[in-house]
Amino acid sequence: MTARPTRQDRFSFGLWTVGWRANDPFGDPTREPLDAVEAVHRLAELGAWGVTFHDDDLVPFGSADTERDRRIARFRSALEGAGMVVPMVTTNLFGHPVFKDGGLTSNDRSVRRFALRKVMRNMDLAAELGARTYVLWGGREGSETDAAKDVLAALDRYAEGIDTLAQYVLDQGYDLRLALEPKPNEPRGDILLPTIGHALAFIARLEHGELVGVNPEVGHEQMAGLNFVHGVGQALWTGKLFHIDLNGQRGPRYDQDMIFGHGDLLSAFFLVDLLESGGYDGPRHFDYKPLRTEGIEGVWQSAAANMRSYLLLRERAAAFRADPEVREAKRDAGLDELSRPTLAAGESVADLRTDRTAYEEFDAEAAAARGYGFVTLSQLALEHLIGARG
Ligand code: GCO
Ligand code: MN
Ligand code: MN
Repeated sequence: MTARPTRQDRFSFGLWTVGWRANDPFGDPTREPLDAVEAVHRLAELGAWGVTFHDDDLVPFGSADTERDRRIARFRSALEGAGMVVPMVTTNLFGHPVFKDGGLTSNDRSVRRFALRKVMRNMDLAAELGARTYVLWGGREGSETDAAKDVLAALDRYAEGIDTLAQYVLDQGYDLRLALEPKPNEPRGDILLPTIGHALAFIARLEHGELVGVNPEVGHEQMAGLNFVHGVGQALWTGKLFHIDLNGQRGPRYDQDMIFGHGDLLSAFFLVDLLESGGYDGPRHFDYKPLRTEGIEGVWQSAAANMRSYLLLRERAAAFRADPEVREAKRDAGLDELSRPTLAAGESVADLRTDRTAYEEFDAEAAAARGYGFVTLSQLALEHLIGARG
């Protein structure tokens, strides 16, 4: 099997993923803390290219400046030693109790100002480390009761917050783009900007929308019962797929953050096919949680499994696309025709209006009688996916 990750694959991991101590709402941690330096080295050995972090993953909330400098220096030398990059950085605006009603949309104005400063401070570090993407996941931006939040005002404040941060990037001359990460719920009962579609519509109304895109996560759309491949497709179509969080989820339930491919496997197959063929050249970032049942060896096995799943799916997707039978089935299914504009070159609306073949002479019964052959195509995909063909 050829599936071995290399730096060219641009696989990255959050420090909070392999470093998750497996505490959940019902139980204590099952693993010891993991040193960021150890994480950098182990991930590099496994073939990863980058690491990402929340400010508080690297430097505990409230640390003194000297301690912050010391930790950053240690981390930097680990990155250099291991040849790892930091493609993305993000902020923890959800852990400390001060953020219990959110960061950028808290009802408390002083908390909103503190949140902005916390992000700005970490943006300085992101730029220093050469990150190109700054993720904003608003896990606490939301409510449990509709009595508690004026949604219109909250969206005003959210837009104000994101535009203020984009302005900061411009003022500082940083080479950073912002990526909003949607999630429907958890930890809040309902989170603002719950899906890719909500986020894209929000971005279109920002003053600095050109600097802002999305960081969709597999499981988050699936928690909402949505088709992740379609959501990512629309983000690509809009030119807004700045980053992506890969993981696994089995349908609408709590956020499982499983290994990529360990949830809806068919969807993972079509996702890889889309990313590899749809012009996405950003990081392949894994945002998952190693199972609570595993010890530290299981953690490293799970990190390797994410990358291996992606590479195997990439091989299968390429074989699917190259298969002559698939090409023929795609033609039969009309996929080539879908790429052809509905109006002819130079044809006006008036021309369409008078084209008798389009309406008066169109045989709807004959067109309705056509079979599209989607079953054949779908089965071919499944057979490639499970390795039953070429
Ligand atoms: C989740 C989220 C988080 C964010 C991360 C970035 O699983 O609920 O994905 O992991 O991605 O905190 O801010
Ligand atoms: Mn998640
Ligand atoms: Mn995520």
